This record gives sequence, structure tokens and C-alpha cells, in this order.
Amino acid sequence: MWLINSSVGRKFIMALTGACLVLFVTFHCLMNSVAILWPAAYNTICEILGANWYALVASAGLGLLFVIHIIYAVMLTIQNRQARGNVRYEINRRPQGVEWSSKNMFVLGVVILAFLIVHLIQFWAKMQLAEIRGVEGAIPPAAGTLFISEAFSCIWTPIVYIIGFIALWFHMNHGFWSMFQSIGWDSTVWIPRLKKISCWWTSIVIALFIIQACVFTVKARSGFYLSDSELREQYKEMLAPMMEKEYGKEIVLFLEMTPYEQASMRLRSEYQSLKSQLESPMAKDQLKQDPQLAEQIEKRLRALECADAMFSYIEKNDPKKAEVNPMMMTQPVM
Ligand code: HEM
Repeated sequence: MWLINSSVGRKFIMALTGACLVLFVTFHCLMNSVAILWPAAYNTICEILGANWYALVASAGLGLLFVIHIIYAVMLTIQNRQARGNVRYEINRRPQGVEWSSKNMFVLGVVILAFLIVHLIQFWAKMQLAEIRGVEGAIPPAAGTLFISEAFSCIWTPIVYIIGFIALWFHMNHGFWSMFQSIGWDSTVWIPRLKKISCWWTSIVIALFIIQACVFTVKARSGFYLSDSELREQYKEMLAPMMEKEYGKEIVLFLEMTPYEQASMRLRSEYQSLKSQLESPMAKDQLKQDPQLAEQIEKRLRALECADAMFSYIEKNDPKKAEVNPMMMTQPVM
């Protein structure tokens, strides 16, 4: 009750949730650095995290931290305004020592929240959420570098992100040291030191985020994530779990042993040929009489459709290579 009713309790909750969010943001920034130094390893991490129970528990915990932090921020802002009555800070009546960010923490939080909504729609909704919902799009949920490519090839993404990062710098820089003050660490010796640590920590994290956004933009717009051969091999192998359900172990071996270009041609031509076979009146009749076979073929067609969508997405958007027309390939494969 003390945590909810008293002003000190509320500030303590803000400090605690803020500290956890600072740690999350720092960890997230380091994770993104892996995508720059070793993109294939980044995809492996995305695959391991995915929608496994431990990743889901961590995401739910993180979501809860954000929600609590925001609710308490609203409560504290209302409480501060009520305490001040109608007298709000004015430009020419700023109390000495009150920093700009300290007075604008709520507004900065709103800008960060807006950035976060755009960011979660671009990434989390298409990755972890899509996996939970079982929605299959053209990009496999574990292909983090393909989502980076999709997001950062749009010129608005780095602009919106950099605005979000600047707001995050002010918010985090102030929040970092003031959370120590909130929990009673109000020493005249330590506050200036904490302010320095806070400024360095925040500046390094935000500088890294800005560098990452710039590198991702340059690489995405040059088609790196679509044409890099190591990444292409990885994207192709990401199809294995879905294809294995319909075609068995052999398809896994096929995907592992066959180079990207060949696998793409063969699976896409298989998709086109199965689709055209199913359009014939004889096939339709046969499937009507055998619902079990019809169901199996339907599932295979859906799996091939996903593979086709992924290969077309990569090849269509790759500025370095003209698209391969699957109709040109006639050789049946499976
Ligand atoms: C260059 C900048 C950034 C990139 C490329 C990036 C990339 C990503 C990616 C790929 C995911 C999806 C992970 C998954 O669902 O498996 C993600 C999730 C997320 N990001 Fe970022 N991010 C960036 C900056 C930020 C910043 C600055 C914040 C916070 C203010 C943030 C907050 C989040 C949150 C809350 C999630 C959801 C985490 C979860 O599912 O548990 N991101 N980000």
C-alpha cells in the first residue's frame, strides 16, 4: 500500500522500473551490435529467442515494467501538477537547478512511447507476435536481418528512430541519476558523480543506437541483407521446420545440401507446377473423392507458397540481381 499511496513509494517504483528499463535498453543496444558485427549470429540469436517460453516470460515481464513505469509516471505528473496548483513553471520563472529534461520527463516519455509503438509494429509484431499467432508471412520470424532490411530501406525509419533516440537520451540521462536520489542517495558528493556516470552511460548507448541506425540504413539500401551469400543460406534453412512437417526429413537434407539459388529455383518451380496441376478438372475430381489427400496437398501447397513468398521477396527486392522467373523452370523436383 505504501508503494501506491505515498509519494516516496511511487518514486521508488519509478526508480526500480526505470533501472530495469535502463538495463534492458543497454542489453538491446549490445544485441543490435551483433547484427552489425556478425549478422548471421544475430539471426541465430533471434531464432533461439523466438517464441520460446523463456523469451515469452521475459517479454511479458518487460511489457509489465513498461506499463507500471508509464502508469506511475502519469500518477506522479498529476500529483505534481495538483501540488503546484495553477502555477506551472514558466520560461522566465524557472527555479534554479531544475534541468530542462527534469521538467519535461513526461513529454519525453510520450515521444519515446510513440517511437516504441512504430518500432514494435516494425519488428516485434512481425517476429515474436507472428510466431505466437502462427501467422506465416514472406519473411520467416527468425530472419531478424530481413526485418532490419525491410524497415531501414525506408528513409523515414532512421529519421523517426533518431528523433526517438534523442528523446531517449534526455529521458534516460535525467532518469538514471535521479532514480538514486529517489531512493534516498542524496549525497552532495555522490549526486555530481552519478550525473557524470549517467551522462557517459546514456551517451555511449545512444551513440551506439545512432551508429547502428545509420549502418543498417546504408546496408539495407545497398541490398546487403538480401544478397549476402551467408545470410541467404541461413534464410533458406529457416524454411526447414515448416517444410519438414509436410515433406518429412528428406526436405531438411535437401535444404541443407542445396545452394540457395538452386533451392530457390526448385521450390518455386515445384510451387508453380503443383498449383497448375491442381487447377485441372481431373485433379479437382480426384481430390473431391479423397478428402484426406486433398488436405495433405493443401498443406503442401501452403508450405510451398510460403517458400515461394520468401524467395520472391528476397529476389524481387535485391537491387543487385534480376528476379529469376520460376515459370522458366520446367524440371519437376519432388
Ligand atoms: C537501431 C535501433 C533498434 C533496432 C534495430 C531494434 C531491433 C529490434 C528487434 C529486431 C526486435 C525484435 C526482437 C524479437 O521479437 O525477437 C526489437 C524488439 C524490441 N525493441 Fe528494439 N531495436 C532498436 C532500438 C530500440 C530502442 C531504442 C528501444 C527502447 C526505447 C527498443 C525497444 C524494444 C522493445 C521493448 C522490444 C520488444 C522486446 C521483446 O519482445 O521482449 N528498441 N527491437
